[in-house]
Formats: sequence, structure tokens, C-alpha cells
Amino acid sequence: QKNVGILAVEIYFPPTCVQQEALEAHDGVSKGKYTIGLGQDCLAFCTEVEDVISMSLTAVTSLLEKYGIDPKQIGRLEVGSETVIDKSKSIKTFLMQIFEETGNTDIEGVDSTNACYGGTAALLNCVNWVESSSWDGRYGLVVCTDSAVYAEGPARPTGGAAAIAMLIGPDAPIAFESKIRGSHMSHVYDFYKPNLASEYPVVDGKLSQTCYLMAVDSCYNRLCNKYEKFEGKQFSVDDADYFVFHSPYNKLVQKSFARLLFNDFLRNASSINEAAKEKLAPFSTLTGDESYQSRDLEKATQQVAKALYDAKVQPTTLVPKQVGNMYTASLYAAFASLIHKKHSSLVGQRIVMFSYGSGLTATMFSFRVRECQHPFSLSNIAAVMNVDKKLKSRHEFPPEKFVETMKVMEHRYGAKDFVTSKDCSLLAPGTYYLTEVDSMYRRFYAKK
Ligand code: ACO
Repeated sequence: QKNVGILAVEIYFPPTCVQQEALEAHDGVSKGKYTIGLGQDCLAFCTEVEDVISMSLTAVTSLLEKYGIDPKQIGRLEVGSETVIDKSKSIKTFLMQIFEETGNTDIEGVDSTNACYGGTAALLNCVNWVESSSWDGRYGLVVCTDSAVYAEGPARPTGGAAAIAMLIGPDAPIAFESKIRGSHMSHVYDFYKPNLASEYPVVDGKLSQTCYLMAVDSCYNRLCNKYEKFEGKQFSVDDADYFVFHSPYNKLVQKSFARLLFNDFLRNASSINEAAKEKLAPFSTLTGDESYQSRDLEKATQQVAKALYDAKVQPTTLVPKQVGNMYTASLYAAFASLIHKKHSSLVGQRIVMFSYGSGLTATMFSFRVRECQHPFSLSNIAAVMNVDKKLKSRHEFPPEKFVETMKVMEHRYGAKDFVTSKDCSLLAPGTYYLTEVDSMYRRFYAKK
């Protein structure tokens, strides 16, 4: 198969959100800590009527409907998520309700889990299936769905929630450049969920930041080496039009892109002009470890990177800044932001993606954008996602109500035998919502 990749995208995030500025005041931290320090504007969260299953039901039905895809045309369905609702039964099986109705139960694939990386694992599986000898000519469907919630404290403002559905097949407008890719995987305890009674992770914030940046470096260098091997020339940030990063919060994305330029400097690549060389020269002898600790280096690289960041990264930041960390959906929500902003000028361009899941697993890979016919044109994908409208029609909750909701959700996590308020007044028509969890822990959903 040629040009296998993403044919269509739909994104869903809860309409309920809290402003980071209001959260700063409520939490009693210094003004600017979340908005400038973390670089975040707003945070979306599930209320008691929404969860990762309802969000993914909404995203999948909306994608099938809006792109006119018959559910019988799906041959593989893979879900990436780190939000555990059941330790055995996959989220994929809940989504089968949509397909069973049409008589299609012949659908391979289950869930993939490793922190924020599960969606990328699901995507690579689907792409590999379409490229393989077992492909039966039907579409693959990838769903990333997560509700990112943290215990009270410094990590809480980095929460978020969303589901993204992506249709996979050949002749795609967003085609994988399969040869250009680098991974880095290792055993660390930076962020993990060992307490099965709680939805909250155990997180070593500082370690997770360093692990993320080390993974950026390692993946980028591997990607560069592979490019050089196959293309016979050096790779630098000049060779891609956009860089899309998994976005726990925007500040880390700024630092990550700056790291790519530092790597280019160390490799003596063409993206680094004389002025930049001069600025970075004092740091050329730092060891790897020292380089992650040096505030001066961080400042210098961010200065060198500023103009390129604005051009190659800034257009990818809208949804992650407005919704927060969406775990598995975070990278693809950043990508959705790019389509939303730049759909009319992306054809022919190369987009480098960086996926990171704590624990840790990371891959950097590349897309090439192609012209495609309706409904798989980029302008139609942007129209279907309708990001502006979804963002504008949200309802801001005061921080007190957000905290109250988090408390309710703590009690509901892992609970049985309850009915929800069934209040779907804030949800858009077509949105699925949770109505009941019965005495056997079976979950029931309705569609508005
Ligand atoms: N105005 C402007 N900037 C400020 C202000 C202020 N008033 N106050 C603080 N800042 C800056 C800090 O200088 C810091 O910037 P820096 O990163 O450039 O040093 C930034 O705001 C954050 O402040 P810290 O004191 O470092 O924040 P804290 O340690 O309290 O929490 C953290 C930040 C560790 C990211 C926390 O939110 C967390 O643990 N999040 C979850 C883990 C995470 O997302 N890790 C990323 C990779 S793993 C994953 O994807 C889950």
C-alpha cells in the first residue's frame, strides 16, 4: 500500500473547563505560575456524566457520520488510553456497540497502554496492519481517549481531557514517512499509576521533565541518523515545516523545540547560523546531564529558537493550551491544532511528531501532507473538527466547582451501584453520557 496514514480526524473535549488564571488565584500560587510558568490558558475536565468511554463513543460516531463512513468499512479498531476503568475489558469492546448494530463484529485490535504513548502504539499498529499482507482492504480506526486528573498540588493544573478518532488507510492526506523515525524506551519511575484504587498517578515532576527532554534528544538523534542513512544528507530542523510535541503543558514544548536546536548545534547542522553558534558556544562542552540542569543553556537555546518556534511550533499549540494535557490524545490534539490553523497551506509539507509516555516510551516520526479529494481533504478535516466552535461553546466553571467535581469523581472511581444526574444540558447534541453503573459494575450510556 502507498501513502498509508491518517485519512480523517475528529476531536472531542468536554465543554466544561476552568481558566488557569482563576485556578492560580484559587490555589494561592504566584500570579502567572500556570499561565506563563506552565504556559497554559485553560483546563477541560469530565463531570460525573462523562468519562473516557463516553468521549470515545462521541468521537467515533461523529467521525463515521461526518465523513460518511459505513461502520462495516472498519476492519481494525485500536484504542490508546491510560485511564483505567476496567483491568480486563478493553475500551475497544465498549466501542463495538457502534459496529455491532450494523452487523460488523469482524474488527481486530484492542487497547494499548503506556501513559501518554498508547495512542501512538495504536496508530503504529493500524498503519502496520494496512501495510501488511493481512490487510483486507478496509479502514483502520485509532482512538485516543483520556481524562488526565491529578491530586491537589502542583500537578493538578496540568490536567485535561479529550478523545480523538483517526481513520487510517492508504492514499492518505497525512501520510507516514515510515523510514524516518526514532524511538527511545527505558525503565524509569517518573509517572506511574501503581495505586489501583485511585485514578491519580504517582508523579516525580522534575524527573518526568528531564526524562521527557532526554527522550526528545535521543529520538531526534536517531531520526537524524536514519534520515542521513536513507537520504545521504544531514537532517536539521530546517528539513521539517512543523514540529508537533506531546504537550503535558506548553512550557515543556518550548523547551523541547529549543533542545532540537541545541542538538543541531552539537551536530554542526545548517539550521544554526553564526550568531546562534556564538550564543551556544559556551555550552558545547557540557555533559548530557549538565545540559539538562543548566538554566543558562535553557535561556540561550530558547532565544536562538524563538523565531523558528513561532513559525514551526506555535501553530500546534492552541488546543493543548486551551484543554490541557489529554495524555494519549495530547499529541494528536496538537496536530489537530495545526490542521485547524494551517490546512490551506500544508500540502507538500513535512511534519515531525514526538510522542512521549512516562515510564518510559517515546517515538519521533514524520508525516508528509498530500492533496486529497473530499471528504479526506485537509480543509474538510478542519471543517469537521470545528475547533473554534468547540472551544467557544464551552462553559467556564469557577475553581471551587472544579475542585468539587474532582472530589465527586474520586468517589465515583471504581464505584458501583449509582446513577448519575443524567444532566446533559451542557453537552452538545450527539454527545454520549454516562447514566448508570449497576450493582455488577456494568456501565450504561445514552446519547443526547
Ligand atoms: N510567573 C511566571 N513563571 C512562574 C511563576 C510566575 N509567577 N511561578 C513559577 N513560574 C515558572 C517556574 O519558574 C517554572 O518555570 P521553568 O520550568 O522554566 O523552571 C514553571 O513556572 C513551573 O514552576 P515550578 O515551580 O517548576 O512548578 P512545580 O514544580 O510546582 O510544578 C510540574 C511543575 C513539575 C510540571 C508539575 O505541574 C507536574 O508534576 N506536572 C505533571 C508531570 C508532567 O506533566 N510531566 C511532563 C512529562 S510526563 C507527562 O506527560 C505526564
